[in-house]
Amino acid sequence: MSTYSEIKKVTTETLRKMKFEGEKITMLTSYDFTTAKMVDAGGVDAILVGDSASNVMAGHETTLPITLDQMIYHTQSVVRGVSRALVVADLPFGTYQSNAEKALESAVRMMKEGGAHAIKIEGGKEIEDSIQKIVNAGIPVMGHLGLTPQSIYQFGTYKVRAKEEQEAEKLISDAKLLEKLGCFAIVLEKIPAELAKKVSKSLTIPTIGIGAGADCDGQVLVYHDMVGMNQGFSPKFLRRYLNLYSEITGAVSQYVKDVKGKDFPNSNESY
Ligand code: KIV
Repeated sequence: MSTYSEIKKVTTETLRKMKFEGEKITMLTSYDFTTAKMVDAGGVDAILVGDSASNVMAGHETTLPITLDQMIYHTQSVVRGVSRALVVADLPFGTYQSNAEKALESAVRMMKEGGAHAIKIEGGKEIEDSIQKIVNAGIPVMGHLGLTPQSIYQFGTYKVRAKEEQEAEKLISDAKLLEKLGCFAIVLEKIPAELAKKVSKSLTIPTIGIGAGADCDGQVLVYHDMVGMNQGFSPKFLRRYLNLYSEITGAVSQYVKDVKGKDFPNSNESY
C-alpha cells in the first residue's frame, strides 16, 4: 500500500502529485449510494458518476438520453456514500456544447445541487470556451478525449479511435489545449497504447485511461463491467474481477426455490 492510501480526502492536487511521483491513479464509476460506499471503502482515488448511467442504470443504448437532473440525482446519491475519493460527475450530452454560459450553468448545478467535487466533459478545441468559462469559475474540469461516447452517432462505431495520423495529431493538440485551459486531468478512452503513452508523457496533468494501455497515469473502468454484472459487454480492455451476474441470478433462483418449496422463512426467520 502506498502513502496515498492514508490520505483522508483525495483532491485534484493529490492526483497531480500522484502523477509527479509515479503513483498510479485508480478510478471506478458509481451511480448510487450503496455502490459508492463499497467502491470508496475499497480504496479507489476517484469515483466517476459517469453518464454511462444512461446505459447501465436506465438501459438506454447510448449515453445521450440521460438528463442533467438525472445525473444530479445520481451524483447526490454517490456523494452521500463517499468519504475519501474525489467525486467527478459527467455533464451529459447537450448541457455544455452550445455555449459557454450554458456550460457554466450546468456545471454550477452539478456542483451546487449534485455536490460533485469536479465535472467531466467530452471534447477538445470545439468546446474550448465552455471549458475556460467553467475553469474560470473555480470548478475543476476533467477532460475526455479519444472515444467520446456522446459523439457516437458521428463516429458510427465504438471502435478504437485515433489510429490514423490526422486524428492522433488532433488528439495530441487537444490534450495540450485542455492542459493549458486548466483541466486537472484527462480521460483517454479507447486509443492506441503508444499514443496514450506519448500524450501522458507530454502533459503535467494526469491521464486516466480506459482501453488506452498501461502508460496512462491512472485507469478507470465501469464498476458494473469490472464486477461482471454486465455479461453482454466484453471489450478487450476489460478485466472482470467477479462474475456477479451468475452469483446474483443463482442467489435469486435459490430464493425462488426456497419460497416455492416452503423452506423460507423457517421458524428462526419468523416472529
Ligand atoms: O461515463 C463513463 O462511465 C465514462 C467512462 C467510460 C470513462 O465516461
